[in-house]
Amino acid sequence: MKILAIESSCDETAAAVVEDGRKIISNIIATQVEEHKLYGGVVPEIASRRHCESIVGVVDEALEKAQMTAADLDAIAVTYAPGLIGALLVGVNFAKGLAFASGKPLIPVHHIKGHIAANYIAHPELEPPYICLVASGGHSQIMRVESYTKFVTIGRTMDDAAGEAFDKAARAMGFPYPGGMHIDNASKRGDRTKYKLPRPKTAEKYDFSFSGLKTNVINLVHNAEQKGETLDIDSLAASFQYTVADILTSKFVAAANEYGYKTAALAGGVAANSGLRSLLEERCAASGIKLFIPPIALCGDNAAMIGSQAFYEYTEGGVTADGSLNAVASMPLE
Ligand code: KG4
Ligand code: ZN
Repeated sequence: MKILAIESSCDETAAAVVEDGRKIISNIIATQVEEHKLYGGVVPEIASRRHCESIVGVVDEALEKAQMTAADLDAIAVTYAPGLIGALLVGVNFAKGLAFASGKPLIPVHHIKGHIAANYIAHPELEPPYICLVASGGHSQIMRVESYTKFVTIGRTMDDAAGEAFDKAARAMGFPYPGGMHIDNASKRGDRTKYKLPRPKTAEKYDFSFSGLKTNVINLVHNAEQKGETLDIDSLAASFQYTVADILTSKFVAAANEYGYKTAALAGGVAANSGLRSLLEERCAASGIKLFIPPIALCGDNAAMIGSQAFYEYTEGGVTADGSLNAVASMPLE
């Protein structure tokens, strides 16, 4: 089954053709990041306008690279939630138009389920059930993936998502948006034991809280500025990255052990973080848990992951939408 998938939930306009949920035939991403960088974060109005300008070209290119026309497709899939509403609407309306014109089924996909499905493309042997750590710009969650379409949340963030904390801490450290990968690079030169950062407590043992940690970094930078002191930014980045990775990893591995999972996966933009990848690999191995991580290219937003999840939504869940499909800014996974 060949699915054309469209993703426009944030600042990447993306389209891909994916076969049977596991094989990428084409995968095109047009990023707007350089423009949003000027403002230190994504400007929703600009994001919508750029999606509107790019979407025809991006979809055309995905079909061209796949050497297909709409007639060769079996379905059209689209991210419809969660995300920036104006950005999502561009993809949803384009997908509806294409599905209507071609007479193909329309499959709505939850963005975070897509992030998890990136693992199916990279790892043909991965099948549910397993436990998944999702860490992106908007989400930090521990999920029980019971089947391709059934998810149960065990833990979630009480405030900032991990990626959001990375980006805000990075901004205070003087890095451009999106700062996560700059912290990652700086960390490689720093000493992670130099700054002692707090590990905020949560009422529920598998929930996360990153807001206090982020604020602590911002205060450290501001206090140093006021006193005219110079901080060792590489070591501050390394200390922050290790603290986030340690919090995510220790709770995730404890949850995996408590619930008896021997298979685990990592997903979302923050899955690109080298410190998180290596700490999770080390601790999963120590607990005898087989860990799956997507390649860096599939960690960030892309449409291939949407095409993968769409295959399972359609074949396992029988999910389709009609012309009344709308975009939804916020939606839980269950
Ligand atoms: O999943 P994603 O591409 O978009 C959302 O769905 O939110 O995640 C984007 C987030 C950003 O906060 C970005 O800074 C972070 O992923 N990120 C990283 C790295 N690469 C991307 N964070 C830490 N280290 C990285 N190498
Ligand atoms: Zn995402």
